[in-house]
Amino acid sequence: MTAKTPKESLTILTDLVLPGETNPLDNLFGGELLARMDRASSIAARRHCRRIVVTASVNHVAFSKAVPVGSVLNIEAKVSRAFKSSMEIFVDVWMEDRESGQKTKVNEGIYTFVAVDETNTPVAVPQIIPETELEKERYDSALRRKQLSLVLSKKMKPSEATELKALFK
Ligand SMILES: CC(C)(COP(=O)(O)OP(=O)(O)OC[C@H]1O[C@@H](n2cnc3c(N)ncnc32)[C@H](O)[C@@H]1OP(=O)(O)O)[C@@H](O)C(=O)NCCC(=O)NCCS
Repeated sequence: MTAKTPKESLTILTDLVLPGETNPLDNLFGGELLARMDRASSIAARRHCRRIVVTASVNHVAFSKAVPVGSVLNIEAKVSRAFKSSMEIFVDVWMEDRESGQKTKVNEGIYTFVAVDETNTPVAVPQIIPETELEKERYDSALRRKQLSLVLSKKMKPSEATELKALFK
């Protein structure tokens, strides 16, 4: 299977925040943003492996800034690392200023998708070759996040999480 680069999976969803999608403060409802991020990362994962993909875990989401109604959001998702059947997807969310067009980062999320066949059995995915400094940084730290996610979901014993343990040495 030929390895791919993160940019081959790059997915950008651009959309408005409408009144029906907000909380009582007229800012984007968190669950609505999560759904949009899940959709973008699912497309990125699918572009990487060209298989059926399912969300295995949402590892981290940081709502750093509120997004007011009427905002234009750019949701950018890219595969940061591929393992055997699973892929880590980084999602960066940018708010676009209506007048200047300047972009401010408002949110970040890290998702794990697994490629499966028609019987929901995990299947192998292509490896990834990071290119930019940021892609290399995210690639290098992905195994640590995978182990943390597996430990939290009780699929790995803390004693087996070698990358995590190395952090505390
Ligand atoms: C995701 C799913 C297919 C994994 O199946 P499984 O029987 O646990 O399979 P495995 O244990 O072989 O794990 C498959 C891969 O997923 C990874 N994985 C499983 N759970 C994970 C978690 N919580 N966090 C990170 N990675 C996880 C495993 O490490 C493994 O990765 P690798 O093959 O790259 O090494 C299965 O749990 C599932 O179908 N879940 C429901 C998915 C779903 O409905 N999502 C929402 C709608 S799309």
